[in-house]
Amino acid sequence: MGTGNEAGVRSTAARSSVALHAAMAVTGLIMVLFLLAHMYGNLKVFEGQEGFDGYAAYLREIGQPLLPYAGALWIIRVILLASVLAHIFSAFTLWHRSRAATAGKGGWRYESRGNRRGVQRSYSSFTMRWGGVLIGLFVIYHVLNLSADYIAPGGTSTSPYQRMVNSFQIWWVVLSYVVALIALSFHLRHGIWSAFASLGANTSVARRRFLNQLATVVALLILVGFLIPPLVIFAGWVS
Ligand code: HEM
Repeated sequence: MGTGNEAGVRSTAARSSVALHAAMAVTGLIMVLFLLAHMYGNLKVFEGQEGFDGYAAYLREIGQPLLPYAGALWIIRVILLASVLAHIFSAFTLWHRSRAATAGKGGWRYESRGNRRGVQRSYSSFTMRWGGVLIGLFVIYHVLNLSADYIAPGGTSTSPYQRMVNSFQIWWVVLSYVVALIALSFHLRHGIWSAFASLGANTSVARRRFLNQLATVVALLILVGFLIPPLVIFAGWVS
């Protein structure tokens, strides 16, 4: 027998799912802003070692003397880490709820005998979940490689520019970046669109078309912009 409060419990759960979708959207968009800035900074590879390392040094000097050395960078790092954790927590909680509500099948999917769960694997469930896991692993590898200098297959260096040149002369390092960046662009293509939808921006057919185009353009811009440094270094166009 019910307690008489089921409707209230259901509406609180629905409201908190809306809040989780909004949290995913906002944290995702924060990370997109970081990616655009990071991609732009990486293009300083064309300014050579002095230009690139000068830019890396400048990032640590922003806000001085009001902030300590690297203070602004640490603020950005904390905001990014909090965004990543909130994004993963929301994604995992929503996935868990959707499985619990659909007896482990996942919502809104067509039945199919081709899949062992009896439902088709949807584009978003596969790309977003497994793509997200791949991107997470890539970021750990990438930070240990180009930021912390722990994974240095081409040799270690105190210069961020030299670390890049050392790494991107090795074909499998370049390939690993290309694969991760393609996964990232698929994730962004769907994620940017869904972030705006979660925030209630897709209110008409024209807006929906615009948001779809915006998501595609930003995902492609990030893909091409990030691919340039490893490819030009591998091709030997910058020394
Ligand atoms: C081919 C593409 C990329 C290149 C060439 C690149 C290059 C670099 C370099 C040189 C650093 C070290 C900067 C320094 O120590 O001053 C760095 C740090 C970092 N990169 Fe990338 N990056 C790429 C793609 C990405 C992507 C796709 C992401 C995220 C999905 C990302 C996230 C980060 C993070 C979180 C750091 C650590 C920043 C810190 O030290 O706090 N990067 N990257």
